[in-house]
Amino acid sequence: MLTFGSRQQKPEVKQLLGDNHSYIRGNIATRGPCPGLNALANQGYLPRNGNNITLSEVETALMSALHMDKPLASALTNSLKPLVHKDKTFNLADMRQHNIIEHDASFTRLDFRQGDNYTFQPLMLQALLADADGGPVTVKSLAKTYVRRLCVAFEYGGDRGEVVEGADGYVLHGGEVSGGGFEE
Ligand code: HEM
Repeated sequence: MLTFGSRQQKPEVKQLLGDNHSYIRGNIATRGPCPGLNALANQGYLPRNGNNITLSEVETALMSALHMDKPLASALTNSLKPLVHKDKTFNLADMRQHNIIEHDASFTRLDFRQGDNYTFQPLMLQALLADADGGPVTVKSLAKTYVRRLCVAFEYGGDRGEVVEGADGYVLHGGEVSGGGFEE
């Protein structure tokens, strides 16, 4: 006998019908430099086409998918305001605009002047993992990555190079950092 209205779908039925939040990789042409928001679109918590997204949709996605509370979700979402169009929406690709929120010296994305500041770069992730010397990625290893990336920006004239000049306790030697607190 057929029944209707069951709240729980059997896994095989769910698979056949498609889960709203299943992973479907979006076209990179419709994605920005933030892996977090890209993932929310790939999982259907934000419009999968990455376009015409309202700030309220972002806030709701952060709360429902990542269980953020409203003040945190709102604070993060507010940073998108400069990207919003007249129709009160934005596209993930708008986030590529340089020095609005996107910046140089990212961990896994190239700098703006290199032409593509949004595509994930596997070699850059490998370098981030290497900073952890074969161990787990920690705050300390990420600090090392941060300084390394700032130094590269400094060396090649990127926009965040000036941060290195002010970085307390670090000296630049041909792209290498020494004198900081992260050396053993
Ligand atoms: C409204 C919320 C958010 C906004 C407006 C936002 C915005 C951005 C922007 C503009 C970037 C690029 C910065 C750069 O140039 O390096 C970025 C990077 C990043 N975002 Fe988000 N983001 C949000 C939420 C999230 C969430 C929820 C996650 C994780 C679950 C996340 C993870 C990351 C990571 C790991 C990066 C660094 C990528 C890298 O350096 O290679 N973000 N985000």
